[in-house]
Amino acid sequence: MRRLRKANLRWMFRETRLSPENLITPIFVDENIKEKKPIESMPDYFRIPLEMVEKEVEECLEKGLKSFILFGIPSYKDEIGSSAFDENGVIQKAVSRIKDEFPDVVIITDVCLCEYTTHGHCGVVRDGEIVNDETLPIIGKTAVSHAESGADIVAPSGMMDGMVKAIREALDEAGFESVPIMSYSAKYASNFYSPFRDAAESGFKFGDRRGYQMDIHNAREAMREIELDIREGADIIMVKPALPYLDIIRMARECFNLPIAAYNVSGEYSMVKAAIMQGWLSNEAIYEILVSIKRAGADLIITYHSKEIVEKLQ
Ligand code: PBG
Repeated sequence: MRRLRKANLRWMFRETRLSPENLITPIFVDENIKEKKPIESMPDYFRIPLEMVEKEVEECLEKGLKSFILFGIPSYKDEIGSSAFDENGVIQKAVSRIKDEFPDVVIITDVCLCEYTTHGHCGVVRDGEIVNDETLPIIGKTAVSHAESGADIVAPSGMMDGMVKAIREALDEAGFESVPIMSYSAKYASNFYSPFRDAAESGFKFGDRRGYQMDIHNAREAMREIELDIREGADIIMVKPALPYLDIIRMARECFNLPIAAYNVSGEYSMVKAAIMQGWLSNEAIYEILVSIKRAGADLIITYHSKEIVEKLQ
């Protein structure tokens, strides 16, 4: 076996190649700040003020990163998350600023209510319960308002049943038949989202998300979730988190022909960064993890590591 492992040969026999085109960079846009603000639980990652969002995109473009997923931290929250679909909301403004300056970049918007509700849940709350069907028109409206401001792809992440269908119908009715949906289809109720909740101010005030996100013990159920999303009109499916769920990515790759995105989430980022800061791992570990996600079967990887790893990929 060692014949093909010689230093000058081994690159020829690589079965998996990771390229900048595979990476999607998350941007946290905060309407309440004027300077970049470090996120304590995510070393080297920042919240970006609305006024600096084009600059952030420009920096990434210079490094060869061309697609982004946006999360908003609004100045106003209420019970139903109405700033999520406000035409002057933080995401709507951020998308149009970016698209005005860089019409060719790919802007994906996260469609969810948790950053916009006072209780921090991903749906409307009634009597302490997160109610499914009342949430659907609100996320439909949110997706349409993102499309109106210029979003290229909308990405519902709230794990409400029927969300893809509701969004597809709302988009079509508003004349956005050509806007694709990237659905967070198999999203587990994971501890690995903890740093994100700091970053996006989306921590919940009571309970947890186990009533709507998937049980971490289940794999077949993930295939059902994905199948339903495809039937409802998803164009791209997602598995989230990535590293602890490589088996699910692989299973999805074998069962479905749609493009698969994997979300290398905040906790995956923070644990590796923590070990690197201690000197226990090096940046090579980041590369190895991202390659493993691609090798498992993901076409696209949403990752906070994109800026620090992209140079290695060119
Ligand atoms: C919002 C959302 C979450 C993440 C992406 N979209 C948090 C959650 O569901 O609690 C997590 C991303 C990450 O941890 O990097 N619904």
